[in-house]
Amino acid sequence: MKLRLAIPITVFFTLTYFIACRHIENNTYAKTVWSQNQEQDLWEKATTYLFPQSKEQLLEETGATKAQIELGKTLFYEKKLSLNENQSCNTCHNLDNYGVDNEQFSKGSRNNTIGVRNTPTVFDAAFHYAQFWDGRAKTVEEQAAFPILNPNEMAMPSEESVVARLKAMPEYIEKFNKAYPDEMEALSFANITHAIGAFERTLVTNSRFDDYTAGNLDALTPKEKKGLRLFLDLNCAPCHSGSTVGGLMPQRFGQVGNYDDYTGHPNPDRGIAEISNAPADENTFKVPSLRNVVHTAPYFHDGSVETLEEAISIMAKAQLNTELSNEDILSIKAFLNSLSLDDSAL
Ligand code: HEC
Ligand code: HEC
Repeated sequence: MKLRLAIPITVFFTLTYFIACRHIENNTYAKTVWSQNQEQDLWEKATTYLFPQSKEQLLEETGATKAQIELGKTLFYEKKLSLNENQSCNTCHNLDNYGVDNEQFSKGSRNNTIGVRNTPTVFDAAFHYAQFWDGRAKTVEEQAAFPILNPNEMAMPSEESVVARLKAMPEYIEKFNKAYPDEMEALSFANITHAIGAFERTLVTNSRFDDYTAGNLDALTPKEKKGLRLFLDLNCAPCHSGSTVGGLMPQRFGQVGNYDDYTGHPNPDRGIAEISNAPADENTFKVPSLRNVVHTAPYFHDGSVETLEEAISIMAKAQLNTELSNEDILSIKAFLNSLSLDDSAL
C-alpha cells in the first residue's frame, strides 16, 4: 500500500518539478528574449544613425587607378613638397599615429611658423561632406593643394615651384607618366593633388564598431553598449552621424551659450563665418568625425581641451544642456574607444 502510494506521489512530484522547471526555464527564456529585444533595438537605432561604411563608394567617385593611389602614397610622404624639404603630409598627419601629431597646433616648414587650428586626422576624411574645420575645400583632392601652398604649413611659393621640384627627379616623371598615361603633361599640380586624394580615399579605418554594425552584436562589451545607448539617447548622434560618426554637416559650437562659457577661454576663431561673414555661421564648425577620437587629443578646432572626458562633458553641456555623471562620461568614452582603428592595422 505504502509502495503503491509512493509511486504516484513520486510521479506527481517529478512531474511538478519538471513543469516548474520548464516554467522557470520559460521565464528565463522570456527574460533573454526581452534583453535580445533591447539588444536588437540598440543595434537598429545605432545603424539608423551610424550606418556602416561603404569603402567602395569612395574610390568609385574618382575612378582612381592603382598606379595613381601608389603615387599618391609616395607623395604623402614626400618632404620635397615643403619649402625647406623638412615636412611631408605625414609629419602632421602621422599615419602610424592615427593620422595626427597630437600637438595643439602644428609647426610649419619655415622657422617659427605655426598653424591656427588643431590638425584633424586624415583617416576617413574622404567620407566628410567637405574638408577642414570650416569645410572650405569640397574634396580631399581639392584640399591637398592648400597645405602645400599654406605659408604656415609646407609653404611652397607657387604651384609651378612644386611641379619644378618634382620634375627635377626623373623617377617622378616616370611615375606620373605611368599613373596618367593618356596625358601630355602627366606631371602637373592638378595630378599631384589628384593622386594624393586618391591615396587618401584608401585611408578607411575598420574598428570593432564596424563589426557591430555589420551584425556581430557581441563585438562591443556591455560597457561600450551602455555608452552607445547614452550617445544615442542623449542625441549626440544627430550631429555626430553616419558611418564616420561625424563629418557630415556643420554645426554651431554651443547650442545653448557661447564657446567661452564652456571652455573658460575666448574663441577668436569664428569658424565658417571667417569665410562667409554671415552672422548665422558664427562659431560654426564641421562636426568632427569621432572615429579614432580616443587617440587624437587634444580636442576641438583649437586643440584647447586635453582629455576626452572633458571634451565629452563640454559637449553635453554646450550642445545638449546636460550635466553628465562621471560614470556616464566613462561609458561614452568606452563606446568611442570601440571606434578606434585596430592597432595591428597601423
Ligand atoms: C603643418 C602641419 C600640416 C601639414 C604638413 C599638412 N596638414 Fe593637413 N591639416 C593640418 C591642419 C592644421 C588642418 C586643419 C586646418 C583647418 O581646418 O583650417 C589640416 C586639415 C587637413 C585635412 C582635412 C581633414 C578634416 O577632417 O577636415 C586633410 C584631408 C589634410 N589636412 C590632408 C593633408 C595633406 C594631403 C597634406 C600634404 C599635402 C597635409 N594635410 C599637410 C595640418 C597639416
Ligand atoms: C548640435 C550638434 C552637436 C551635438 C548634439 C554634439 N556635438 Fe560633439 N561636436 C559638435 C561640433 C560642431 C564639434 C566641433 C566644435 C569645435 O571644435 O569647435 C564637436 C566636437 C566634439 C568632440 C571633439 C572631437 C575632436 O576631434 O576634437 C567630441 C569628443 C564630441 N563632439 C563628442 C560629443 C558627444 C559625446 C556628444 C553627446 C553628449 C556630442 N558631441 C554632441 C557638434 C555636436
